[in-house]
Amino acid sequence: MQASSTLIAPSILSADFTRLASSIEIAEKAGADWMHCDVMDGAFVPNISFGPFIVQAIASCTKMVIDTHLMIAEPDRYIEDFVKAGSHQITVHQEACSHLHRTVQFIRSFGVKAGVSINPATPVSTLEAILPDLDLVLVMSVNPGFGGQKFIPSAIGKIRQLHSMRMQMNPSMVIAVDGGVTEENAQSVVSAGADALIAGTAFFKAADPAATAARIKALTR
Ligand code: DX5
Ligand code: ZN
Repeated sequence: MQASSTLIAPSILSADFTRLASSIEIAEKAGADWMHCDVMDGAFVPNISFGPFIVQAIASCTKMVIDTHLMIAEPDRYIEDFVKAGSHQITVHQEACSHLHRTVQFIRSFGVKAGVSINPATPVSTLEAILPDLDLVLVMSVNPGFGGQKFIPSAIGKIRQLHSMRMQMNPSMVIAVDGGVTEENAQSVVSAGADALIAGTAFFKAADPAATAARIKALTR
């Protein structure tokens, strides 16, 4: 798959939570494609963020695609809640699922897109058998749990490998990259094969988020 323009997905985690609606409006006016919602449970990752209640509040005030990233153990227990909250796509972690195929089918049974994320230490090859069933793979370029971390360069090789695998097995599958994405590394991420860039700090802490989004969206492979 070759997206005509790079998709940008601001991570709400880096927004000003005292002004959630205006943060969403900033993303929407900047032409962001997805609103990335980072859900953390304090078990799969060391941090706790928010749950379906906040995702529902976010979904109620935007037309952007609600991209829910579940960094939680046993995600099957909460998938329906996040669908009801308004998620259009739900990504679970390969490392958090004992029966990944079942979980992916379960997500799809609600008519939403299914994604799988892999941590920096998880090889791309662990996704080979499930790749034809996926709408999205989210390559973590930091260890999940916190915004504002430094990009781990080995993610680039993994994106490249995943890109060549999907060309063989599932060309319409989207490759997204999450963690430490900046304007400095965005081009190499896109050149490696990424279609969608998640940007927390780089978007919400930018002097001009709309200009940042425009420059990232203009990147092509
Ligand atoms: C990390 C989250 C990311 C993070 C991105 O656990 O999944 O989505 O918030 O934030 P930045 O762009 O600041 O790394
Ligand atoms: Zn995320």
